[in-house]
Amino acid sequence: MPYELLVTEPALIKTIKTSLENDNLFVKPITKENQFTVIRTNIRDSTEIESRFPNIISRQYEYKLTNLSMVRDIIGFSRNYFQSYITDESILQTLLDHIPTRYSIYPPLLLFNNSSMKCFTNGIFINIISQYKIDLSKYYHSLLYDFIPATGMTVVAINKPILEADTMRQPHNLQILYKDKNVGDEEIWCKLKQNDIWQVWNPMYTMFSRGNIKEKKRVLDTFKDVRDNDVVDLYCGIGYFSFSYLRLGCRNIFGFELNPWSIMGFWKGYDLNHGFGHSNRSNCHIYNENNERSLQRITEYRDTLPNHDLLRIRHINLGLLPSSEQGWPIAIRILSDHNDWLQCPLVTLHIHENVSIEDINSDKFINQTLTKLGKIPTELNKNDNNNDDDYHSYKFEVIHLEKIKTFAPDVWHICLDVNVTITI
Ligand SMILES: C[S@@+](CC[C@H](N)C(=O)[O-])C[C@H]1O[C@@H](n2cnc3c(N)ncnc32)[C@H](O)[C@@H]1O
Repeated sequence: MPYELLVTEPALIKTIKTSLENDNLFVKPITKENQFTVIRTNIRDSTEIESRFPNIISRQYEYKLTNLSMVRDIIGFSRNYFQSYITDESILQTLLDHIPTRYSIYPPLLLFNNSSMKCFTNGIFINIISQYKIDLSKYYHSLLYDFIPATGMTVVAINKPILEADTMRQPHNLQILYKDKNVGDEEIWCKLKQNDIWQVWNPMYTMFSRGNIKEKKRVLDTFKDVRDNDVVDLYCGIGYFSFSYLRLGCRNIFGFELNPWSIMGFWKGYDLNHGFGHSNRSNCHIYNENNERSLQRITEYRDTLPNHDLLRIRHINLGLLPSSEQGWPIAIRILSDHNDWLQCPLVTLHIHENVSIEDINSDKFINQTLTKLGKIPTELNKNDNNNDDDYHSYKFEVIHLEKIKTFAPDVWHICLDVNVTITI
């Protein structure tokens, strides 16, 4: 997948563009994204992009084949392929009109976006294929080996939206169109490097969202003070965010995840990143369990320490969509039971939610979140029958709202950073 550059300095835009143009590496158009100017390149090698532009943020981008010449690529390839079967030009053109033109390359997987019109499962496409007795598996095989300039590709699939109701956010709707013989579902492990960090996942059982790259980069750039402190990731998945904290040099990470496939991906990714400099997994406490068990697990960990030392919890990540509200009281309890407020007086919660643009712009979301967070200590006090007002001294302050990506028209996946302090 090629790389694009996220440029913040307006003065650099022209220089970068000219340098890319001189080497035929510039891809139109230049676009804006929040504070960034996005410049696309044809560079597919992470080392090349990093050595040419060492101080510029880069990320991989999807082939959105809206650019006519690129559309012609896959359409041209398919025309070439199918014209040996179909001589009637109008039928051939109808077939080509249904070829999907948007896809991602996640070796070993070639993953096409879902669209009712442009799709290999579209009724008109299928009718023509069966009318001409074309063996589609040969076409998919040819896509993997002749069209995609990458090695080790073995699977063609269609991506369908993840069901919101699915807590584990598994891509049940991933439909395999073609798989090389001998490749079992359990052997499909995709890997992708973003921000110089590998991530590994099995697309049959675990979601992957490329759009979170910006948020991972923000974590890497903004929260350097995580170094030598502890982090809790209540929905750690394959490690999107945990890995950024590990790269930043956190002392311990405590991660909780229901999906065993994500846990397997987490450890494969961890190992591929060489344990982020650790020779064993001793700083990484990952549990394939409901995060409701986190209090007990952290207690058990502390029991192994010489003085049952408290933790220095600097960040708690709450990365579940459409809402991570389930984890908010758990986060507060973790802080109450396990944080050493003298050594770590400031904790930041990263609350991920899907929020309407209206509620973002009117501050309704922020106000509601602060109100809800503010009530949690009182609720916990009631439930714990705890009379010593332990939870009452918490102060919550919103420090940032990051719009990560659009989830649906007018609905954004956001991350709200909330600082938590207490008065002792
Ligand atoms: C949006 S995904 C998280 C993405 C994650 N940051 C990653 O790297 O994959 C949310 C994850 O939370 C997990 N999950 C949902 N509810 C949970 C719970 N109560 N305890 C632990 N994990 C949970 C799901 O299985 C899913 O993998």
